[in-house]
Amino acid sequence: MPVILDGKKLSETIRQEVAAATAELAAAHGVKPGLAAVLVGENPASQIYVRNKRKACENAGLASWLHQLSADTTQQQLLDLVAQLNADPQVHGILVQLPLPKQIEEAAIIRAVSPLKDVDGFSPESLGRMVEGHPRFLPCTPAGVQEMLRRYQIPTEGKHVVIVGRSNIVGKPLANMLMQKGPGADATVTICHSRTKNIAEFTRQADIVVMAIGQAKFLKADMIREGAVVVDVGINRLPDGKLAGDVDYQEVAPKTYAITPVPGGVGPMTIAMLLKNTAESCRLSLQGR
Ligand SMILES: NC(=O)c1ccc[n+]([C@@H]2O[C@H](COP(=O)([O-])OP(=O)(O)OC[C@H]3O[C@@H](n4cnc5c(N)ncnc54)[C@H](OP(=O)(O)O)[C@@H]3O)[C@@H](O)[C@H]2O)c1
Repeated sequence: MPVILDGKKLSETIRQEVAAATAELAAAHGVKPGLAAVLVGENPASQIYVRNKRKACENAGLASWLHQLSADTTQQQLLDLVAQLNADPQVHGILVQLPLPKQIEEAAIIRAVSPLKDVDGFSPESLGRMVEGHPRFLPCTPAGVQEMLRRYQIPTEGKHVVIVGRSNIVGKPLANMLMQKGPGADATVTICHSRTKNIAEFTRQADIVVMAIGQAKFLKADMIREGAVVVDVGINRLPDGKLAGDVDYQEVAPKTYAITPVPGGVGPMTIAMLLKNTAESCRLSLQGR
């Protein structure tokens, strides 16, 4: 039986840690970490993500605000709102839920968020700091994957990690984080993507496989070696309405040493890391950064 990497349970532990840190900040300094969420348009998945993130904030004692804008919002209107949130001392984290409507250039909005409040870790400054090994805020999904491996004591040092997917929010930053020097990293990393020839040839060599492509049940049992660790970042809606990851869990799980379920794996970890980043941003603001 594989070890189930239970992100739901682990994220609960992290949320309790954040709640304790938040209570301490309130008692010692009279401040409350606050997250401002910005939602543009009516994408149903985005609405659910934002609702879950806000609920998690409130449960951990953080303040949260929702700025709901219509689908025809202009780029300038959104930039104005971001500027206002950048200047608001009660706001420690700004989350602009992606994707944005097509009239708005996502990169321009990401660049406009103050690096000191970039709790999603997407800004060029956050990414640059991560690459040079002095991160302030790490992107939440890859940070959640790394934290999960660390807390389940799955070693990465000297291990071969194969990541399938090279997006800016998952694959690319995760590869960078795991190849850094130090605990929870020191891995040898291979990245595969849609132009990679014969992906199975790479995944079969991996000690740890991370799937982040958005293709339901793509990874089959014959694509991994016996005893591998499999982390499934993918979230896909099947025709019957159920959720599935990028891993064919039923056939892959028995061959693994450890595996994440979908749902209940990486997803809750992402939210936990967002809370952690927001509380950390509040703490840093008290130190004048
Ligand atoms: N659990 C969470 O909290 C969380 C957070 C974020 C995303 N996700 C999920 O993770 C998945 C990936 O998200 P994303 O935002 O990273 O997606 P994305 O921006 O669409 O990127 C997908 C990546 O997968 C690659 N890819 C697509 N099809 C492939 C195939 N058949 N073989 C090999 N590579 C393939 C693409 O290659 P190219 O670069 O060559 O196009 C791209 O690099 C989605 O299911 C998403 O819902 C989950």
